[in-house]
Amino acid sequence: MSGRPDVLISADAIRARVAELAAEIQRDHPDGVHFVAVLKGAFMFLSDLARAVGGDVSLDFMAVSSYAKGTTSSGEVRVLKDLDTPLDGRHVLIVEDIVDTGLTLSYLQDTLRARGPKTLRTACLLSKPSRRKTDVKVEYVGFTIDDHFVVGYGLDYAEQFRNLPYIGVIAT
Ligand code: IMP
Ligand code: MG
Repeated sequence: MSGRPDVLISADAIRARVAELAAEIQRDHPDGVHFVAVLKGAFMFLSDLARAVGGDVSLDFMAVSSYAKGTTSSGEVRVLKDLDTPLDGRHVLIVEDIVDTGLTLSYLQDTLRARGPKTLRTACLLSKPSRRKTDVKVEYVGFTIDDHFVVGYGLDYAEQFRNLPYIGVIAT
């Protein structure tokens, strides 16, 4: 892989949208919010979102694997790292980088709902609705995009490009 990915969504556009999402999230969570971020892709979105949301905020991380390598979904979800703290009675917000087929998120929502949170909502920076294989509910969507493979702002291609400050497209 060589060259810089073309800009699909600029850093400025991301910043503005994250501020809007944070305002909505804060309004919907007057009693505070417990972020559950999905590693690794959501790390940058989480760090910007967590700083923009006021009020009572706590957070935890989970790591799952749905893609073996490259750009094709295996449809199989494996938990690589589980949460450190229980969710019962908490207002939980899943923070994901992107909903593609929806299989990963659907699995996560079922797993976390079973742990008894008071509320369970989901925020995704990106959504590719044309790729959906399962009907999954996402309360906060940053940007809806066409079927491109995107990188940057946390998202990778074979572990590259996570550090880009923007969302870019690579030729696959
Ligand atoms: P899903 O289970 O098909 O919805 O895939 C979700 C996961 O696949 C995301 O959390 C990403 O980690 C990864 N993924 C899906 N599409 C892309 C993409 O365009 N770029 C980078 N990672 C992606
Ligand atoms: Mg992910």
